[in-house]
Amino acid sequence: MFFSKKIVTMSLESAKKIASRQAVEDYLANNTIVGIGSGSTIVYAVEKISEIVKNLNWNIKCVPTSFQAKQLIHKHNLDLTDLETNPELDICFDGADEVDENLNLIKGGGGCLLQEKIVASCAKTLVIVADYSKDSTYLGEKYKKGIPLEVVPMCYSPILKKIQKRFGGTVSLRMAQAKAGPVVTDNGNFILDWFVFDKKLDWEKINLEIIQMPGIVETGLFINMAAKAYFGLVDGSVKTRKKPELTFK
Ligand code: 5RP
Repeated sequence: MFFSKKIVTMSLESAKKIASRQAVEDYLANNTIVGIGSGSTIVYAVEKISEIVKNLNWNIKCVPTSFQAKQLIHKHNLDLTDLETNPELDICFDGADEVDENLNLIKGGGGCLLQEKIVASCAKTLVIVADYSKDSTYLGEKYKKGIPLEVVPMCYSPILKKIQKRFGGTVSLRMAQAKAGPVVTDNGNFILDWFVFDKKLDWEKINLEIIQMPGIVETGLFINMAAKAYFGLVDGSVKTRKKPELTFK
């Protein structure tokens, strides 16, 4: 007689869903202002937020990080607000392209990094929702598409060259899939993808240097911003990673 142990193998979609639902359950509170990130994982977080709002009649106001996020908020009949009305957020939920062991992130795979970083920077807490493929030890371990950089269109070419010369690697202009020409962001800018992962780099230092280049609008490096990440795993469980507490002597 054979006894077979039941092995649960979650699809990426199911992994996104369980992580998102757990994060919202843990962090959503009544009477709060909530940032809504962008991408495919955040869809499940918004579904959960909407269930809670409907079931418990909670007062939640949502600040979007993109056109897509705004559409999601509308679709679920959630209250939409903005940074002008609510400059301080209690929490922001967002996805990520990669999360390292210190909770530094690569974001911008979906081209929404500028508004995502602004909204996250206005929130007391940034919580990341992701599937197991985003969980890395160091940036570039798993995400191989490069660091997204949002740039003013007129200077994409000199910036591309300057970054390659200064730091190495290869920078390319992100091209649209269903339109001729480049991807144009929600803010009317272009995206460069900087592939430099064969080197170990000090991302914090590099981020500060790149951000000062005239024409760079924002980078997809989110350093020291996230407080906690939730990863849905293949076995149906959820793994979390919390920002290490700073200890002062
Ligand atoms: C968009 C982002 C997304 O949060 C990131 O690309 C993750 O997306 P997904 O949840 O679809 O994997 O930064 O600019």
